[in-house]
Amino acid sequence: MSVQHFLTLIDLSPAELRQLMHRGSELKRDQYAGKIYEPLKHKVLGMVFEKSSTRTRISFETAMIQLGGHAIFLLPGDTQLGRGEPVEDTARVLSRIVDVIMVRTFEHDKIKLFSEYSRVPVINGLTDLAHPCQLLADMQTYFEHRGDIKGKKVAWIGDGNNMCYSYINAARQFDFELTIATPEGYEPSQEHVSQNTDFVTLTHHPEAAAHNADLIVTDVWASMGQETEQKARELAFDHFQVTQELMSLAHKNALFMHCLPAHRGEEVSADVIDGSQSVVWDEAENRLHIQKALLELLLCS
Ligand code: CP
Ligand code: NVA
Repeated sequence: MSVQHFLTLIDLSPAELRQLMHRGSELKRDQYAGKIYEPLKHKVLGMVFEKSSTRTRISFETAMIQLGGHAIFLLPGDTQLGRGEPVEDTARVLSRIVDVIMVRTFEHDKIKLFSEYSRVPVINGLTDLAHPCQLLADMQTYFEHRGDIKGKKVAWIGDGNNMCYSYINAARQFDFELTIATPEGYEPSQEHVSQNTDFVTLTHHPEAAAHNADLIVTDVWASMGQETEQKARELAFDHFQVTQELMSLAHKNALFMHCLPAHRGEEVSADVIDGSQSVVWDEAENRLHIQKALLELLLCS
């Protein structure tokens, strides 16, 4: 029997993703109401982190506790993975012991390899190519504030990075129009864009992307692993800050999102991220609720 992994949004069907949105909000209401629901009693999530994290670790760990299970936090430096044990062997061993595995790493090929050797579901907690759990939370947040995102106009402002790639997948799966504004040389790869030209437009002008948008999204200019490029990127992205002026080009009820952590004064001005159109704290909270729905889907169906 093949195992259902969640490495990108394309691993679930549009119908499954929509059902997940509904279930995430239902689990959120139940949690607020103090309802105890423990379908994952005695189940264990192994979490392999090769990059730093606040939200991903805390939300997955809390999700497992609230669902009655347990999570184990693994750093490569503390495991044999850090001393060169092959990914294939680590995947084989971990998946004979735990019930589900979350991996945050650099190369997307590494998590793909891991999943090929895993007997249990593998969840992508961020790679250089994708951050699908964050997109689940972003979509849940949009649905909760504004209803269905189908047919809406979304503007991505900034780097053509892992979050940007996941927005491309989201545009396909949730059927919205995505305009990506990057500096020259920082576009997402042609390979990914060319498969999605029905949903995605590229520009080098943030104003063009923001015009009439229903949602404006940005992310850091230098992602984890690109720290040495910080200065060069600050120069290249100089005109790509999401400011009130840029927000004013969007619909008046447009939302602002950022996966966090954010750098006020770089990719976003303080008055935007701390302003009335920003829903960044809901996005962060929804990581918990939507990942509970995801874990339930992967382990209970
Ligand atoms: N947004 C997000 O994934 O945050 P962390 O890096 O803190 O997990
Ligand atoms: N693009 C960022 C997202 C962090 C959650 C990074 O990869 O560092």
